[in-house]
Parts: sequence; structure tokens; C-alpha cells
Amino acid sequence: MDQPAVRFRFIDLFAGLGGFHVALRDLGGQGVFAAEWEPTLNTLYEHNFGISPWSDVNELDSDEVIAQMIPDHDVLTAGFPCQPFSKAGEQLGFEHTLQGRLFFKVFDILSVKRPRRFILENVPNILQHRGGQTAATIVAKLEGLGYEVQVHRLSPHQFGIPQVRERAYFVGSLDGLNAFEWPTEFEESTSIASVLHPDAQASRDIPEQTLRAIDMWGDFLSRSPATVKLPWFPIWSMEFRATYPFETTTPPKSWARRRPRELDGFAGSFGFPLERLSIREQRRLIPSHSGRDGDIEFPVWKQKFIRQNREFFLTNRKWIEPWLDKWQPWELPSSFQKFEWNAQGGVRDIDEHVLQVRASGIRAKRPVTAPSLIAMTNTQVPILGANISRTGKRRYMTPEECAELQSLGGIELPESDLQAYKALGNAVNASVVRAIAHPLLADLRPAKKNAAHPQAA
Ligand SMILES: C[S@@+](CC[C@H](N)C(=O)[O-])C[C@H]1O[C@@H](n2cnc3c(N)ncnc32)[C@H](O)[C@@H]1O
Repeated sequence: MDQPAVRFRFIDLFAGLGGFHVALRDLGGQGVFAAEWEPTLNTLYEHNFGISPWSDVNELDSDEVIAQMIPDHDVLTAGFPCQPFSKAGEQLGFEHTLQGRLFFKVFDILSVKRPRRFILENVPNILQHRGGQTAATIVAKLEGLGYEVQVHRLSPHQFGIPQVRERAYFVGSLDGLNAFEWPTEFEESTSIASVLHPDAQASRDIPEQTLRAIDMWGDFLSRSPATVKLPWFPIWSMEFRATYPFETTTPPKSWARRRPRELDGFAGSFGFPLERLSIREQRRLIPSHSGRDGDIEFPVWKQKFIRQNREFFLTNRKWIEPWLDKWQPWELPSSFQKFEWNAQGGVRDIDEHVLQVRASGIRAKRPVTAPSLIAMTNTQVPILGANISRTGKRRYMTPEECAELQSLGGIELPESDLQAYKALGNAVNASVVRAIAHPLLADLRPAKKNAAHPQAA
């Protein structure tokens, strides 16, 4: 069978699992170069796409090396590493040593190779980073090379895929962007059911303690009277029965002054008395969110959450007290003592929801979208409630199902589940890229000269 004609050639920097490759290949593009330094992903990329990627982009360290090693191409794609700009990281940005400066590598390659188009992807926080200066620098540098540039945020759920994952996309063209329009959103609602595999085999059981915590919060939901509006704020059960001061003074303030007796007469987590205890003993009975040294005064948001939790407890103690006595949440790790009900108005059956164990607590969401995939540890993989899992049991979403959330269903994933989840959490959603690339690359036609290159498939 004849191969379809190649419409354009592209390169895939920081290639990971190849989300950009999948999207651009579908539009008739040919990958001619990729770079990925993580050995497992590097090997897997070759297996999936027939290109052996370059390893460390920093080793493309001069214009000569770039000119020699990177074949001519029409489109450059790059999801440059986002930790330097991510809310979760320290936000050092361009100063994040070499990693923060990887944008400048992209810039160097664009300036030497001058492809007609580019698509860059990053976390949306890059647009706010340093009060917008970081994004302004990026755009100004790219415009300085002659590109017209536009930036827009998009998420897979706007295209019918059940994952909320907003990302910032920078597109650029040497031919101007008059003919380009960002893709319009899909109106239809999404459902997690669309990515579930009926014959999914959970590769790992949910640990006993996690199941107990889910049962505990499930019981909390079913005990709550229908007339009681459940909190929109995070539920911190350790604040139930607690009375320690958090407004005019705080436990860390008393400890800093070596005056533990100031806490006599108050109760710590779950109401445990602080009377006549040493600072060390008191520390164990104060919730971790209120016991950090240096946290002499609590920020307004924290004071508000503590106040709201205590008020909620006091107005609902009739049904919460027996729940506390039955489950004794203080026996569980602190993250299991917290619960986020992101399903306001939804049915109060925990097994109808998608759950995620986070440092901030167990989060329950309606099965409309999955939580945004992050470079997860195994414990953060979304858990499907028994009534929506299709297997009749609570279970983790499989790597294959998470791949569907990234529109990467057709490729092979890393063998280790941990590596697969992590790479999927870093990947770009292929459907979103396709929706952007389709109008952006519509006028690209097959290149006349066909520069052969050892790395091209
Ligand atoms: C945000 S992810 C991009 C994922 C990719 N767009 C995808 O669809 O899977 C960034 C990737 O860049 C890789 N990376 C980070 N620093 C690198 C470097 N100096 N050279 C090559 N690859 C690098 C990481 O291993 C990671 O896979």
C-alpha cells in the first residue's frame, strides 16, 4: 500500500511519551527528530514511532551542533519542562539553573532552523509567573525572531475528553497568524465512562488503610442529613472537638516563647487535652497545618478553614460525634483525616464518585471528569467508586485508561505502572494538540527537498 504523502516535517523536543507526535502524525506530518533524556522514554519513543531520540537538549550547545544534528523541518513542538513555572514547584522560573533555561534552547533551535510554525506547551501558571513577565519575555523573544505569536489556555474537557487539565499553548508562525483561529470548544458534556475499559484488570489492590478511609468518608456522607449543605471548603476532621487558639495567638507562638502552659485548658486535634503537656507532647496533638514552627500567625485563609470546620462540627455534632466514635479517624494518617467534597448537590454515595488520595485529603468528584493527571505517585492514581468502576469493586484507573485521558490510547506505555502514570501525568493531550495544529498547519504542503537524516525513520 502507498504511504500517504508527507504534508510537513516536524520535530518533537522534550518528547516524553510523544503526545505531539501522535497529533501531528495524524495530520500527515513526519517526525524527523525528537529529544528525550529519560532512558526508558527514549527507548519507548523509538519503539512507538521509529525515531531514536537525541538525549539531553543541553548538549545541542552551539549553533553549529544544532545546524548539523537537527534536520530541516516545518514545525517545531516542545512541551518544555514545567517545574520551574509550576504552582507546585518553587517557581524559580528561568533562574531554575539549566532546566529553567530550556526555553532558551527552544529559542536557539528556532533561530538556527527557522521552521515556519511552532507549538509550545506549558502549565497555565507560566502566564502569571513573575506577574506575567516570564510569558512576556517568551513572546518578545519569539517575536524578535520574526514569528507572530498567540497564547491561549485549553483543556481536554473542552473537546469531549473527561479530564480537566488546563494548559497554556503558544503558537507561532513566520507567515503571520491572520488565517489561524483557536479551536472552538465542544459543547457536549463529558463522562468518565467514555475512557473506562469494561475488562480492565486492576494491576494493584487498593491498600486496606485507604479502603478504610474511603469507607469512613462514605459513612460521613450517608450520615449527613439531606437538609445539611455539605461544606465546599476542605473538611478537616481533626478540627472537630478542637479548641486550641488560632486567631489572636497560635500554638507555634506559645512554643516559640517556651510557654506551653498558655495552651492549658485548650484541646488539640479531635479534642485531645493539651493540659500540663510538654511542648513535644503538645506538638503531637496539634494538627500538622497548625503546628509548623515559624507559623506564628496563621494566614487568613487558614484561619477561615479552621473556623468553618469548627462551626460545621458544632452545628452538626449530633451526627458527627457518633461518626467520630465509630471511626476514630485519629488512628489514620493525617491526609486521610481530610476530605474534599467536590460534588456539591451530588448523590451522597461515595461509590458513585471518582476519588483521589492527595496530601490535602481524599477528594471526591462527580464521574464527569477525572482529576488532572499529574506526574503521580502510585497512591495518587484516581480511584473509581464501586458503582462506576464497571467491575463492581473500587479500583484504581489503569494506565491504559489514563492514556485515554491523554488521547494516547494507541501507543505502548512504559512497562512499569509507576513510570507509565508518571509519564502520562507529564504528557500533552494529543486531541488538544490536534485541534490546535489542524488550523495552524492547514496551508503547509510537502517540502520539495527531502533532507535525509540518520535519525529519521
Ligand atoms: C513536560 S514533559 C513533556 C512531555 C511530552 N510533551 C509528552 O507528550 O509526553 C517534559 C519532558 O522533557 C524531558 N526532559 C527534561 N529535561 C530534558 C533535557 N534537558 N533534555 C531532553 N529531555 C528533557 C523530561 O524527561 C520529560 O519527559
